[in-house]
Amino acid sequence: ARPESDGEAESGPSPDNPDERVSYEGAQVIQLDASTDKAVIESIFKKKEVDLWGGNRTHMDIFVPTSVASEVKSFLMEKNVTYSIMIEDVQRAIDVENLVEDDEDEFAGRKGHKMTWKSYHSLDDIYGYLDFLAETYPNQVRIGSVGNSVEGRPIKYIVISSGNPNAKKFWIDGGIHAREWISPATVTYIINELVENRDNNQQIIGDIDYYVVPVINPDGYEYTRRYQRLWRKNRSKGNYFCPGVDLNRNWGYKWGGLGTSNENCREIYRGTGPFSEPETRSVSSFILNNKNNMKGFITFHSYGQYILLPYGHDYNTLPPDFKEMERVGRKAALAIKSVGGATYQVGNSAKLLYPAAGGSDDWAKGVAGIKYAYTIELRDQGTYGFTLPAQYIIPTAKEAMAAVHTVARAIQES
Ligand code: ARG
Ligand code: ZN
Repeated sequence: ARPESDGEAESGPSPDNPDERVSYEGAQVIQLDASTDKAVIESIFKKKEVDLWGGNRTHMDIFVPTSVASEVKSFLMEKNVTYSIMIEDVQRAIDVENLVEDDEDEFAGRKGHKMTWKSYHSLDDIYGYLDFLAETYPNQVRIGSVGNSVEGRPIKYIVISSGNPNAKKFWIDGGIHAREWISPATVTYIINELVENRDNNQQIIGDIDYYVVPVINPDGYEYTRRYQRLWRKNRSKGNYFCPGVDLNRNWGYKWGGLGTSNENCREIYRGTGPFSEPETRSVSSFILNNKNNMKGFITFHSYGQYILLPYGHDYNTLPPDFKEMERVGRKAALAIKSVGGATYQVGNSAKLLYPAAGGSDDWAKGVAGIKYAYTIELRDQGTYGFTLPAQYIIPTAKEAMAAVHTVARAIQES
């Protein structure tokens, strides 16, 4: 989901102040019809604290912080614009999103890792899980780090190998946007399926090697857990008052185009140049080093329930094999539906959502030449937005696994 401007202004500048956890008490998410008068929309977004959380051609989900909530709502009433309130109190949504039954860590000690998929976990828990898998399944998996983040955290990967020398490769990543917690939760679930639940996934593990990075933006992820739940970017220190680069505007394919900003304070700040950030630099080199036979690429985001196809950098550039990619995308949406899942829309990302240049999917397709390259926007459709309660992790991840199956079958046939 695209934010139109920075949502952190409520807390003032955002230095690394370890004692401060930002409260979003009184902040709301409201929904406007896309047919709303353009001038009205523009004047709302003039306030830089207002942040476009999501939406498409029909509607917009708009985050309004406490400081401007009543002002914005009175303005809308005055202009006779109807709106609905999606999230009454964002802080309350945050307070409950990760509440879980207290039995959840009952087996933690005995299991050898802490992942439960009943709650959102820390980076330590996620990395601890990868370590556990490497120790437990030394013949099937290999872990390592593609490089370090701005703050020096490793960006860990796991390779789940088929043992087949002619295997094709399938790239899966998550957590490029810090606040989209469902993404690393889902990607770790997929890892769990492929490693610990092999019986259920027999058809897609014999001839495919999976290259998986659950958290591309580890600094941002930890920052959202500790200080500011709604942080999106990495933690690059280019500007003291407005740190962070949008890592999904920083990839070196048509960098700097539509849907990006050269202003540090914007949520869609693209950085000082293509691959200016260590996170995108090291992930992209790692992919290039392994691109031989890499046929699939899925990067998981939230929210909105979309299967997005390249290119996203402008409104009218499609890859030559777009139809084939679309066929597989639609199949994936059907597969999601038939596991009892949600409805996902399929289409070109610029047309379905909005153009945004410098995304990893465009680079994967246009530069790395990976045939089936998708961005998947997981649940939901705005009811909870980024604060999707933890009880939805498993249903959402099962859907994602269905999509992985479909793309894996396409890879096998390619
Ligand atoms: N929500 C994602 C973002 O704003 C969508 C990315 C789609 N891909 C693209 N190349 N624009 O980053
Ligand atoms: Zn995202």
